[in-house]
Amino acid sequence: MGNWKLHTTRSCAESLAGAVVDVVTRENPPLEIALAPPFTFLAIVARVIEGSPVGLAAQDVFWEDEGAYTGEISAPMLADVGCKYCIVGHSERRRHFGETDHQVARKVSACLRHQLIPIVCVGESLAEREKGRAEDVVRRQVKAALVAVEEGQVVPVIAYEPVWAIGTGRAASPEDAARMSRVIREAVDELLGSNAGQRVRVLYGGSVNPGNVRGFAAEPDIDGALVGGASLRPDTFIPLVRAFAPGGSRR
Ligand code: PGA
Repeated sequence: MGNWKLHTTRSCAESLAGAVVDVVTRENPPLEIALAPPFTFLAIVARVIEGSPVGLAAQDVFWEDEGAYTGEISAPMLADVGCKYCIVGHSERRRHFGETDHQVARKVSACLRHQLIPIVCVGESLAEREKGRAEDVVRRQVKAALVAVEEGQVVPVIAYEPVWAIGTGRAASPEDAARMSRVIREAVDELLGSNAGQRVRVLYGGSVNPGNVRGFAAEPDIDGALVGGASLRPDTFIPLVRAFAPGGSRR
């Protein structure tokens, strides 16, 4: 999944999505591929990817469906414009906008009420890692975010994104990311039971690029990647898609 964050213009969004659609339509890798443009370009990208295997994702959502909440965008609005996925609880939202675990859980519920697949972001800060608290923090974030998920509902996708690795060029090692993926699976199992930990898809995010992607793709516990900077150009995003395609560069 490419997370374009606060980047692109209308024409750039159109041509970037078009370039991804061209390659993905031609190669048709057995993967889920999605793009998360800024809200104002969702409808434009929806038109470009229509009929292709590329899915549409939002970068955030508000937890109420409608009401007097100036500036917010709701899950039914996202579903209406064609979103299939929604990123929830990205560390940039937690840090710059004070999003709490409780708010993240409400956003997850809103997504599930409207058949959007939440991509829940979790990850420790550098200080937390240095204090040896990384696993505890991630476990707490996972359990808090999924607390309102009910039996029979879709299990959200979890993206492990250590804060110190995002946009820094300093990715986690594939081994560390895979270890944390197993911690996440354990936490999901403890909370939801029924083997949900094995079924949950875990992405890694944080400075993934064409030079390091193979290491992540080779880890059986890592199901995909959530990509910021490298998703803004076809020549850096497409190699990531290929790396995760079975029979491609994976393993
Ligand atoms: P990055 O961002 O790939 O630019 O590090 C990842 C993310 O924030 O999802």
